[in-house]
Amino acid sequence: MVLEGEESKKTVKRKLEHIEIVYTKPVEGPLATWFEYVFLPHRALPVVEPEKVSTRISFLGREIEVPLMITGMTGGAPGTEVVNRSLAEAACRYRIALGLGSQRAALESRELAYTYSVVRDVCAEIPVVGNIGISELARYGPEVVEQLTSIVEIDALAVHLNYFQEVVQPEGLVYMSKGLEVLSKAIDRSPVPVIVKEVGFGISREFAADLYSVGVRYIDVAGSGGTNWVLVELHRAVDSGNLVKQYIADGLKSVGIPTAASITEVRSVSEDFFIIGSGGVRSPYDAVKALRLGASMVGIARPVLVAYLRKHLNEFLKAFVLGIKSLLASLGITTLRDIEKCPIVVTGPLKDWITSRKIAYLSKT
Ligand SMILES: Cc1cc2nc3c(=O)[nH]c(=O)nc-3n(C[C@H](O)[C@H](O)[C@H](O)COP(=O)(O)O)c2cc1C
Repeated sequence: MVLEGEESKKTVKRKLEHIEIVYTKPVEGPLATWFEYVFLPHRALPVVEPEKVSTRISFLGREIEVPLMITGMTGGAPGTEVVNRSLAEAACRYRIALGLGSQRAALESRELAYTYSVVRDVCAEIPVVGNIGISELARYGPEVVEQLTSIVEIDALAVHLNYFQEVVQPEGLVYMSKGLEVLSKAIDRSPVPVIVKEVGFGISREFAADLYSVGVRYIDVAGSGGTNWVLVELHRAVDSGNLVKQYIADGLKSVGIPTAASITEVRSVSEDFFIIGSGGVRSPYDAVKALRLGASMVGIARPVLVAYLRKHLNEFLKAFVLGIKSLLASLGITTLRDIEKCPIVVTGPLKDWITSRKIAYLSKT
């Protein structure tokens, strides 16, 4: 199904508004990630030079240098191909993974496919993750996964669950009650692995168990504490004078599971999950804490876009990668594989959360 016309124009407009809002307006808080309650006691005398720490992992059948992904943001509006091209060039230079923004716009108007496929023009080697919302998957049916993989060569498809954003969005579609069934059919049909991805409100243990039961093995927790999509939509509701949506957004802006808690929730369900720890990862220290808590990889979105818009993208990523390696060296390990052996101290509300949810795996190590 290809929808030309009004719907396509609205999607394009919304994509551009989102970039403008996340760059110019306050869109984080009020919840925090709770990484601030995690401490990793370091060795004042590291055993290895930071550049020699091995952080290489295999992700979706491709080798990457650091377990880091720029998570899905853009594509789908004329001009966004320039952003995706730059993100792909940078991801290629540092050998990290790259997520695309929702491919919905290319389903509605095939002419926009180039805004996504540009990433393969500049880099054939990195893992690229496609993206679609659960609402679109429900609307178009599982056969849409073949269309999505034909728009650009992707190594996995992220299906984003943005329930709270859709509740607040003026044009939101809340087709989610049959979501697990929809996901299960998409997994059966998809030629590439499916990653289930939140957008900033986190994944709980109970839901992760449901996802496991329908065959999901990749989860991007995208927890609370980073970009808050209820706040983003609140700005749009204010701009359009939609008072009902403003009240809804105001009442929902503190929902969600802090990222650090969400990683522990999902990891407690299964060792088999490949977990992308994301949502408010703002420093290499946050990233290493996420990995120590059980994430297999970390993801960042808004700070990467901001660095790109400030023309600092390469410097930002170079510093981030070096920061991760320096911190791992300070923990006395030479390879990321040994991160579980590093001491960890969990304090405050995160400790209370882990205790009240009876999450035990962290104390076993
Ligand atoms: C401008 C922008 C656009 C985004 N568009 C998408 C999208 O199309 N699909 C998606 O799954 N997530 C999207 N996200 C969400 C991010 O991938 C990420 O999950 C979320 O922003 C939390 O990460 P952060 O705190 O590092 O920004 C977008 C984020 C930004 C900043």
